[in-house]
Amino acid sequence: MLYSEKVMDHFMNPRNVGKIEDADGVGEVGNAKCGDIMKIYLKIDDDVVTDVKFETFGCGSAIASSSMATELIKGKSIDSALELTNQAVVEALDGLPQHKIHCSVLAKDAIKDALDDYYSKHPEKAK
Ligand code: FES
Repeated sequence: MLYSEKVMDHFMNPRNVGKIEDADGVGEVGNAKCGDIMKIYLKIDDDVVTDVKFETFGCGSAIASSSMATELIKGKSIDSALELTNQAVVEALDGLPQHKIHCSVLAKDAIKDALDDYYSKHPEKAK
C-alpha cells in the first residue's frame, strides 16, 4: 500500500479546512515544480495558536499534510509551532512515499510563512 491509513483518512476527511476572515497571520507557499499551492490562516491569542485553517490546491499528500500539520499546531504555543518540522508531519501521518515528502515541506513552510506574517504585523512579539 502506497499510502498509510492516516494519510488516506486526512485526505478523505481533512481537518481544519477553510479560511479565517480576521486571521492574525496568513501564509501562502507554492511549489514551482508540481504547481501546488497551500494557504494557512492563524488566529493567535496570548502567544497560542487558538485556531488554524488551511486551503490547499494540490495533491492528496499535500491535503493530508496540511490537515495533519494544522492538527499538530492547534492549541500549541507559537514557539512550538515554529519548531514544527516536516519530518514530524510525515511521522504523524505514518510516513509518505519518498516522492511525496515535498508535500509535507509545503505544509511546514506555509505555517512558517503565516507566523512570519504575524510577526511582521506584531513586531513587538518578535524575539
Ligand atoms: Fe506537490 Fe504534493 S505533489 S505538494
